[in-house]
Amino acid sequence: MRFASAATKPASVQADVLALPFYLDDRQIPPDLAELDAAANGAITQALSWGDFNPLEDETALIDATGIGAARILLIASGRRGRGAWRARRNASKAARRLQGTGAKSLAVWLRDGEEADAYTAAAIGASQGTFRPYAYYGRVRDTPAMLRSVEEVAVIGDAAPGDDALRDSMEIADGVAWARELSNRSANDLYPETMAEIARGLTADGCSVEVLGPYEMAALGMGALLGVGMGAGHEPRLIAIKLPGWGAGGDRRLAIVGKGVCFDSGGISLKPPERMEEMKHDKSGAAAVIAAARTLARIAPQTPLMAVAPMVENMPGGNAQRPGDVVKAMNGKTIEVVNTDAEGRLILADALHWAEQQGATHLVDVATLTGAAATAFGDMISAYFARPREWGAEVAAAAEATGEWFWEMPLAIEYRDTLDSAHADIVNSGTREGSLIKSAVFISDFVTKPWVHIDIGGSAYLIRDKAHNPKGALGTTVTTLVRLASDFAARA
Ligand code: BES
Ligand code: ZN
Ligand code: MN
Repeated sequence: MRFASAATKPASVQADVLALPFYLDDRQIPPDLAELDAAANGAITQALSWGDFNPLEDETALIDATGIGAARILLIASGRRGRGAWRARRNASKAARRLQGTGAKSLAVWLRDGEEADAYTAAAIGASQGTFRPYAYYGRVRDTPAMLRSVEEVAVIGDAAPGDDALRDSMEIADGVAWARELSNRSANDLYPETMAEIARGLTADGCSVEVLGPYEMAALGMGALLGVGMGAGHEPRLIAIKLPGWGAGGDRRLAIVGKGVCFDSGGISLKPPERMEEMKHDKSGAAAVIAAARTLARIAPQTPLMAVAPMVENMPGGNAQRPGDVVKAMNGKTIEVVNTDAEGRLILADALHWAEQQGATHLVDVATLTGAAATAFGDMISAYFARPREWGAEVAAAAEATGEWFWEMPLAIEYRDTLDSAHADIVNSGTREGSLIKSAVFISDFVTKPWVHIDIGGSAYLIRDKAHNPKGALGTTVTTLVRLASDFAARA
């Protein structure tokens, strides 16, 4: 896919399809729409009056156009105005996805408003996302030449277009998002801790130094929390660490991004119910995101003082599996009573975050499909984050906002810490149900001392069914945010 950005009038842009947002208050046809509509001989007003497009019912409408540079117009129902990069990314994704399988090869995305430079890059990345086909990885049977047709050229247009140069890194970032999706979508019989470690070793080709710890190294380091989770599985755990060339020179500012890598979460002895358990192959989405972000940054900004850490395990029941009531000792010396083996993400993060600090990280961000409660509270559109201090969280939130990801802060209420007190150890891994989303973050906070943000993508990591903007499966959530955060972090050093 090729990206361009130009300050072209929508009526004059040459493309197979011109896509634009149609807001609820556009039914009165404001001047900018009226200008395009007049040039297109009334194509838009006609589609509205004939009922070819009802913005309250239809997600998109593809209408023929004459008199303008584009052959067709794609109207995208867009609710209310003013969601900036998020709306630009989502609409571009819808447009590219809608055109999948059609003959359209070139797409012009008209932003119409919210034209900060970030919206242009967000739209480019969104368009790339819209062409993603999960089926292509394992499936071949349904592939026909027509199905494989997709948009190849994307021009993002608007009055404030920053020019093609501003989109130079966008293709690399879009590739990173797609790679994270592919990794997360891969099934657990095919991608397990050892295979993920092999994949990570491939990043040496991008100039990274890659270290992989196995169970013996972990035991020597005292990573009892991480090791405990992996006990029931046939596949051994691995801890992957990827350091960019800039990590060594980071000095007093070094960023570690840590991703939960549970290749399959059956729940362990605290077994999950069978309904939709297959989704738990996506429980490695955090690891996929940090590895993909590291590869992207290694290619576009290798001097970033960044390390990606991915604790990889399979959470399985078995004769050797961890039991409820087991007490393990984390690398930081704290003992944990494992009352629920399904609260495993926080256990592996406890050791991975502490190890990252010991490696010299001054700032930490973890990304984890940590709780079903995040999905219940936020759905698939929004990621919840917790921060200590909140100023560091604001930097993460700004990076998310700029790249069109929707984050929302939750309180890191350490006042709940006493609900995690154990009769037998320093802490239990799971407290009472009330406030469990917050308590999961409070648990992790016991194992981190440096500035830290925890991002719970339990709801936002993958779609459980096809949507207009993306197909069912992994979304690559947080990749663009992490790339942006790390670039900004390096720039401030
Ligand atoms: N990986 C799950 C969380 C999850 C569930 C993410 C469904 C996305 C969809 C996590 O390991 C888990 O099982 N969490 C438990 C925690 C509980 C036992 C305290 C949960 O959310 O039910
Ligand atoms: Zn899990
Ligand atoms: Mn679990």
